[in-house]
Amino acid sequence: MEAQMAFSIEIRNSWLIQTPSSSSSSSSNALSFSRSMLPMAGAAERRRRWRQCAERRPRMNPAMAAAVTERIVRMETEIEKPVKFTVRAAATVRRRRKEDVKGMIANQIDAYSDKIGRNVVLELISTEIDPRTGAPRTSKRAELKGWFEKKDTKAEHAVYTAEFTITSAFGEPGAIAVLNRHHREFYLESIVVEGFGPDPIHFTCSSWVQPTRIHPNKRIFFTNKPYLPSETPPGLRMLREKELRELRGDGTGERKLTDRVYDFATYNDLGNPDKGAECARPLLGGEDKPYPRRMRTGRPPASSDARAESRVEYPVPVYVPRDEAFEEGKEEMLSDGALKALLHNLVPSLVASISSESIDFKGFHEVDNLFKEGIRLKQTLQDQLLQKIPVVSKLFESGEALLRYDNPHILTKDKFAWLRDDEFARQTLAGINPINIERLQAFPPVSQLDPAVYGPPESAIKEEHIAGHLDGMSVQQAIAKNKLYILDYHDIYLPFLDQINAQDGRKAYGTRTIFFLTSLGTLKPVAIELSLPPMGPNCTRAKRVLTPPTDATSNWLWQLAKAHVCSNDAGVHQLVNHWLKTHACIEPFIIAAHRQLSAMHPIYKLLKPHMRYTLEINAIARQILINGDGVIESGFTPGRYCVEMSAAAYRDHWRFDQEGLPADLIRRGMAVEDPTQPHGLRLLIEDYPYATDGLLLWSAIERWVHTYVSACYPSVHHVQADTELQSWYAESIHSGHPDKRHAPWWPRLSSPADVASFLTTLIWLASAQHAALNFGQYPLGGYVPCRPPLMRRLIPIPGDPEFENLTADPHRFFLSALPSLTQATTFMTVIDTLSTHSADEEYLGERPEPDAWTGDAAMVRAAREFAADVRRAEEEMSRRNSDPQRRNRCGAGVLPYELMAPSSTPGITCRGVPNSVTI
Ligand SMILES: [Fe+2]
Repeated sequence: MEAQMAFSIEIRNSWLIQTPSSSSSSSSNALSFSRSMLPMAGAAERRRRWRQCAERRPRMNPAMAAAVTERIVRMETEIEKPVKFTVRAAATVRRRRKEDVKGMIANQIDAYSDKIGRNVVLELISTEIDPRTGAPRTSKRAELKGWFEKKDTKAEHAVYTAEFTITSAFGEPGAIAVLNRHHREFYLESIVVEGFGPDPIHFTCSSWVQPTRIHPNKRIFFTNKPYLPSETPPGLRMLREKELRELRGDGTGERKLTDRVYDFATYNDLGNPDKGAECARPLLGGEDKPYPRRMRTGRPPASSDARAESRVEYPVPVYVPRDEAFEEGKEEMLSDGALKALLHNLVPSLVASISSESIDFKGFHEVDNLFKEGIRLKQTLQDQLLQKIPVVSKLFESGEALLRYDNPHILTKDKFAWLRDDEFARQTLAGINPINIERLQAFPPVSQLDPAVYGPPESAIKEEHIAGHLDGMSVQQAIAKNKLYILDYHDIYLPFLDQINAQDGRKAYGTRTIFFLTSLGTLKPVAIELSLPPMGPNCTRAKRVLTPPTDATSNWLWQLAKAHVCSNDAGVHQLVNHWLKTHACIEPFIIAAHRQLSAMHPIYKLLKPHMRYTLEINAIARQILINGDGVIESGFTPGRYCVEMSAAAYRDHWRFDQEGLPADLIRRGMAVEDPTQPHGLRLLIEDYPYATDGLLLWSAIERWVHTYVSACYPSVHHVQADTELQSWYAESIHSGHPDKRHAPWWPRLSSPADVASFLTTLIWLASAQHAALNFGQYPLGGYVPCRPPLMRRLIPIPGDPEFENLTADPHRFFLSALPSLTQATTFMTVIDTLSTHSADEEYLGERPEPDAWTGDAAMVRAAREFAADVRRAEEEMSRRNSDPQRRNRCGAGVLPYELMAPSSTPGITCRGVPNSVTI
């Protein structure tokens, strides 16, 4: 009888198929190995016995299957009572490394209350429905043991256990419910249950579990087995839907920091109209100013403008769902950065406010001193600070290091490289912003702006300006040979220039720079055009062309023109390429993913590492970076028009189908289609470090995603029938990018290939593209004369009073056109923090729980292959950096290109590709 019962258990759970004739064999037979015995044996012994069974089991033919079914029915009727057995759960809880007094007391209270019965309890939920109740089978509740005993442990993780008594009718567990009856939330990393079979069952949680006093409902965690919606086991269907309903919320009310609700809102929180009209900013998102959507917080409106959301000022946190908030390691990095920011900003501001002298850099040595001696304060000023500001005593205790800036990479190999034209050009291919350079395909370049408003569309650059720099070629010959390239910021700046230049201390042009591709594969600038909006019908100042210098005066004019180009470039890099196209445009896909894709959805599992921290860093950016009077407005030439420029770029230029690397290279003319080449394209500048290294990572991501998606979706039908996938995509567009929802270019999501292509682009943007645009900010942009984020003076023309100043003291004039001391140090401080990898960074190819993030063993193996691919790409990049033929990344004093090199140590390294937009 025991053997028969065991047989029935195994059959019902599809673990073991055995011939009926063997069912009555002796205890040495495989059938005597029952699940009821498993928990009593050790794990190794259980696995050994299980292997024996599996090896002995024959394949079952249909006739046998029928016989088995018949026998099961018969035996079921024979079983009067289900067998009971014990299984064990081990829950891993991550503890805070640093606790404040309040936290320590709360921990003690929880430990003592646990001892008297206010426990954390677990409940196993079966994949099967109980026919009697119509609900999933559930185990009895079991409390997690050991909280009191481990209350003083200093380890980063604590493991607590629970034991369940299960009946043989239970079936396979598919979910686990957690009820936290403590006073305080805890971070549950994972739960492993042993005893159901040869292998443990993993529940990947990675989530804060709130106490019942805050959230009375049980938290549900599913096993790591992926299921498409249609494949969801019956016992989990309702739970899957319920979870998603909870995550979506009802779109009302103000969110609390403990919530985990994901929803959309417009960017109506950047200004602070309650502080006065000067502090109000336009609403972004809507017909007027299209923009992606952000995470909804539900904060009440501002008192003076019902359309604007009231502000919460940093460091008071803005709502993001609890699990999106930075973990301890990341928080520490930012708070260290914040102290640094405070010191760097506070001191220059005070210097500026107390000093009656000019706040310009008076010579290049003063810029250099920021990296050598730091900012020196007069003794009297020190005393004043010490009296007035409590934090300042701390500042002086550790002051030396904190007040001195790190030497940016750009100065480490050749301090004067930034003055040279070849370096200026090289940075368009291997610098912080290598994605605006385009091939010039028509001459002269033409504007797309309305000629009625902005004058004739043709550029003022004529053949005679550049003919002498084209190695004997005519302009047409050079174009035909793909030798001319352009950095064109005319159209994006011109509509804003009147407003920008009306601001105090902000001056900009719309610049165009033409480059010639030399026979060595490097670029050299051959003309810079500086455009201002026409002031009248015959205005001569509207367009001005400068060419490479021939004497001292033209040399300084040329240096100033290059500084204006860099300032244009810095603005577009920050506002459009970095902030808008990675941070802001990804956010809606992440919000929709949490609302529409269950945690058990295979695509959610694929995307999870690529969504980490993005919502939190974007929330912080809205508080201190892109907000009115925030760091971006203060640091970049467009000033208070920064985000409006970003919105104009979204309206006019952003389209998802061209955000992938190959499509972008072809759009910019940097590559041509060539089916014989990898990716179907051929680069026209062979040594284009961003593109060549980017393609290595693009390929690795593409291969991995293709393998994964093919395994998830065997057919077109599976894609089209996947309700969660389709809802995610539809919502990302209709609710996340609603101002673009009618655009014809949104890719279809009908086949496995469509899904793979879409996901490759998304993962590319979150990882490699963001890293290429983010982590060089301080290393390559921290020396302000090389790359001024803002300019304060236009370039004088002979006859202007300012022209005299330029000729009298060109160094001083040049520096007076750059950011002031306060502006420069504020900017340097912020990009220093933004370029820093935290200690808990997860890089491309890595993910937590590498063997348990999915229950699909084949995909665990494929992920390892992806990681190996990424490592190989890194080795190839390293090889390229020592290849003297690649002059854009190797040569005398030339910096290697490492921004796409996936691995990094913490800190500012000018390399490292995190999985997601984390900073
Ligand atoms: Fe970033």
